[in-house]
Amino acid sequence: MIKSKEWDWKKVNGKQEEYWKEPSIESFYLINRWKKDNKKDFLDLGCGLGRHTILFAKNGFNTRAFDLSENALKRAKEYAKKEQVDVEFKLGDMLNLPYDNESIDCILCRNVISHTDTEGMRQIVKELYRVLRHDGEVYLTLGSKETWGFKQTDWPLVDPNTRVRMDEGPEKGIPHFYADYDLIEELFKNFNIETIYQLEDFYKNENEELSSSKHYHVLIKKGK
Ligand SMILES: C[S@@+](CC[C@H](N)C(=O)[O-])C[C@H]1O[C@@H](n2cnc3c(N)ncnc32)[C@H](O)[C@@H]1O
Repeated sequence: MIKSKEWDWKKVNGKQEEYWKEPSIESFYLINRWKKDNKKDFLDLGCGLGRHTILFAKNGFNTRAFDLSENALKRAKEYAKKEQVDVEFKLGDMLNLPYDNESIDCILCRNVISHTDTEGMRQIVKELYRVLRHDGEVYLTLGSKETWGFKQTDWPLVDPNTRVRMDEGPEKGIPHFYADYDLIEELFKNFNIETIYQLEDFYKNENEELSSSKHYHVLIKKGK
């Protein structure tokens, strides 16, 4: 299994930092869904700067936040303090989650779980299953095999689904696992798959050129 590597958040400032402080669209849907379902214990898995950590804590969830990056956790803690919300922060690797069996109701894992290889992915899926309560849910995103990153033939291919990102920036040297529909069905066969979307995200790069990336957004439930 490839060694895990955290994001280099020291490289993320200014406009990029603003982006990573703005909650994602689906987080508002999830708050609504999980409140209606009376879910209380929430984990922001790979919390980064804490954009979802703070949002969920403000919305009354018992919030845990977890990341492999000390710099991210430091900044997320400061953010939580400023916003006066209570959060349990932990540093660690998602391959071994520091939470008890069946202790968590809902997990948001956005742009995180792909930071490993195929063997690591299978281990993380087991960890998700272990820490979730019955009927617990996870919303996660996975890089798509159709996206530009998987087509970068000069990035080392670690296994048939994984490349190590080599361009400059906070993700340099970090493994990226890429999925397709069949692989997702196979990976999450012990869960009920509630929804799968493949979304293409369009953005302008620093030279104002149009780019896009494709991710699967998957909502799974521990119900079997
Ligand atoms: C793209 S950022 C996303 C942050 C956050 N989920 C958000 O949406 O703002 C990916 C995060 O995953 C963390 N990460 C990468 N590998 C990890 C691992 N093995 N265990 C825990 N966190 C990890 C990185 O340090 C980084 O903070």
